[in-house]
Amino acid sequence: MERREFLGNLTGPVFVACAACMGACSKGGTTASTNPGGVNPPANANITVNLATSLLSVGSSVVQDGVIIVRLASSNVPASFTAVQVACTHEGTSINFNSGSNQFVCPNHGSTFTTSGAVVLGPAARALKQYTISVTGDTLTVTG
Ligand code: FES
Repeated sequence: MERREFLGNLTGPVFVACAACMGACSKGGTTASTNPGGVNPPANANITVNLATSLLSVGSSVVQDGVIIVRLASSNVPASFTAVQVACTHEGTSINFNSGSNQFVCPNHGSTFTTSGAVVLGPAARALKQYTISVTGDTLTVTG
């Protein structure tokens, strides 16, 4: 096999390997839970949660379709819940809800957000998108 022919045969696989490496390296130290839906919020959310089986206690949360939904109070009315994008606006890591501080916290670099998604502490500079909640009987619906 001539050198030129040998290099020609390597081009395809080498390119694929480099592209995969560059994609993996571009996340900049993030974890496997990073960027489930990108830094930007999911659009046109239409999520339902059965309140007879989920979000039973104050402070509990569920994540569906890139949105984290939290019960903030015991009654089944919209004001008892909040729903925001789960991807941190800094680099896309999934945020958690801290019921002690009543804030969303990003485990990656420590950004914190209010229950309505406003930034309390950076490095995130942009608020989380908050979604609209309605409750009918035991069915909670998130839209936005
Ligand atoms: S990814 Fe959330 S603070 Fe950096």
